[in-house]
Formats: sequence, structure tokens, C-alpha cells
Amino acid sequence: MAERIVAVIGAGTMGQGIAQQAAACGCAVRLVDVTTEGAERGRSLITAQLDKLVAKGKLTEKERTGISERIVTSASIGGAALGADVVLEAVFENIDLKINVLREAAEAAPKNVMLATNTSSLSITEIGSRVGRPDRVVGIHFFNPVPVMDLIEVVRGVATNKVVIVRAVGLATQLKKTAIVVRDVPGFATSRLGVILGCEAIRMLEQGVAGVDEIDRAMELGYKHPMGPLKLTDLVGLDVRLAILDHLHRELGEQFRPPPLLRSMVRAGKLGKKSGEGFYTWEEGVPRAR
Ligand code: CAA
Repeated sequence: MAERIVAVIGAGTMGQGIAQQAAACGCAVRLVDVTTEGAERGRSLITAQLDKLVAKGKLTEKERTGISERIVTSASIGGAALGADVVLEAVFENIDLKINVLREAAEAAPKNVMLATNTSSLSITEIGSRVGRPDRVVGIHFFNPVPVMDLIEVVRGVATNKVVIVRAVGLATQLKKTAIVVRDVPGFATSRLGVILGCEAIRMLEQGVAGVDEIDRAMELGYKHPMGPLKLTDLVGLDVRLAILDHLHRELGEQFRPPPLLRSMVRAGKLGKKSGEGFYTWEEGVPRAR
């Protein structure tokens, strides 16, 4: 069964990527943020991304227009959820915020809606039970940049309905991605492994083992990672990584304790690519050593 109407709540980096990919794969997308201006800003960043693909010859003008036209913006969660097949939240990594958003959506959405959370680490079981629809809530975890990364991690809460899991895997295929299905444990399969590498890289930087560039090159050239762990932390967002680490530290223990350098950079507003400065400075999406 193809999902036709997808409400994406949160027009930040992940919400934009998810909206872009869903629209490119033929879904009617409702992109929601707190204000209409916020949602429109997200839409204009998607348009800029589509323009780049047209300039590279990877998308025709007609395809770009089609994708843009399939995305409408709104500041109303209830309005966007009305008649939606899927509600997918991609708001900040804070459990109360995610629950409030999905609860508001669930009140307006059809009974058989799929309520998906793009959390990187939080408990799907807890989100489902506090939303009051544990059978409909599933984790659908995307990776940044969404249009490029092949994986979708589908996370099964204790009470998630089997049909909803099948639909989530089907949605991954519809969006031209490959799904893995994992049990609901803190950090799932991906964040638990990915975040620890970034965390250790920041600790090494604090200890003066090597500079930013050297640490990243160690993984890029020595292990053939497409980008080093510090550049990747910049891409994901230092605030996002910190929120994940705080949660995993509480749930899984000492090895996930956030490095003080990460916390102080977040407090200073150095959030990585999206703020223009993190471990690198970013100009027009390109990282430069500081
Ligand atoms: N939309 C569509 N296409 C895009 C895009 C976007 N938003 N961003 C990049 N691309 C495309 C480019 O057009 C380009 O395509 P071609 O090679 O066909 O021209 C391709 O992606 C590569 O882009 P670039 O040439 O600009 O840059 P690159 O070769 O350095 O690759 C990268 C960039 C894809 C980000 C690569 O460095 C990479 O894979 N990095 C690792 C990313 C990663 O690990 N992500 C997971 C983060 S963890 C996460 O997201 C989960 C979480 O919970 C926080």
C-alpha cells in the first residue's frame, strides 16, 4: 500500500530532507513548523537544494517544479494531520516535545494513521504510550543528508502494531531506501555506534592527541569514511549530538558522557553547519578548517 499524504512536522535539516525525498517520490507533503515563516524557510532551503540538482543536470526543470508543487507549508499540526496517511515528526531531540507534537497530530489524524518519530535515540515505547496510541507509533530514523543516505532504521516499540511495522518498511522502499528493523533500545543500532565515534574524536581533541583536520583525515584516509567524525558532528549539529549523548549517558552509562568541549561549544552557539561554525567554519555548505 503506497502512502499518499505525508505530514512532516519540523522544517529543520531533517524535516527538509524528508519532505524533499517524499515529494520526489510522489507523495503529497505537508511541511509544518511552529510559524508559517519557519515552514516557508524550510521550503525555500529545499528549493535551493533542488536548484543545485538542476544545475548539476541531475533533475529536470519539470521535475523540480513537480517536487516543489507537492510540498505545501503550514503552521498547524492538526490541519496537516487531517486525512494524512503518515505523520512523521522531525522536531528537536526532546521527548516531551516529540510527544506533544504527535499527541496533537493523533487527535486530528485518521484512526489508521502511521505516527512516526524520527528520533535518533529516544524510546519509541515511551513515546507511543504517552501519546496514547502505542499501536500506531513507530520509529522511522532517517540519515543526513536524507536524499543521499540509503538507510532507514525502523524501530519497533513494545506495542507497535505489526501492520504498522510492515507499512514503515514499505514506506522506506517507496522512498527508495533500504530498511533495517531493530528493537527499541537506547540509540538503536545506528546512533549507539555512530555517536560513540564522534564522542571519542572530541575527547581526543580535548586531550591534544591531534588537530581537527588530522583526526578527521585519520578516519577518511585510514578507514575510508566519507567524512571524518568531527566534520560529521558539524553536519548533524552539535546540539543534536549533545542531546543524544545526554540521553545515552543516562540510559547506557559512562562511555556516553558528553565531552565538556561539546557542551561549551553548544552553549556558545557553535552548532556546526547550520550555524556556520563548529569544528569547521561553513560557507555555502562547504567546510573550512578554522
Ligand atoms: N539532496 C540531494 N542530493 C544531495 C544532497 C541533498 N540534500 N546533498 C548532497 N547531495 C548529493 C550531491 O548532489 C552529490 O551527488 P553527485 O555525487 O551525484 O554529484 C552527492 O550527494 C555528494 O555530495 P557532494 O559532492 O556535495 O559532497 P561529498 O561527495 O563530500 O558527499 C556526503 C557529501 C554525502 C554528505 C558524504 O560526505 C557522506 O556520506 N558523509 C557521511 C554522512 C553520514 O554519515 N550521515 C549520517 C549522519 S548521522 C544521522 O544523520 C542520524 C542522526 O540520527 C543524527
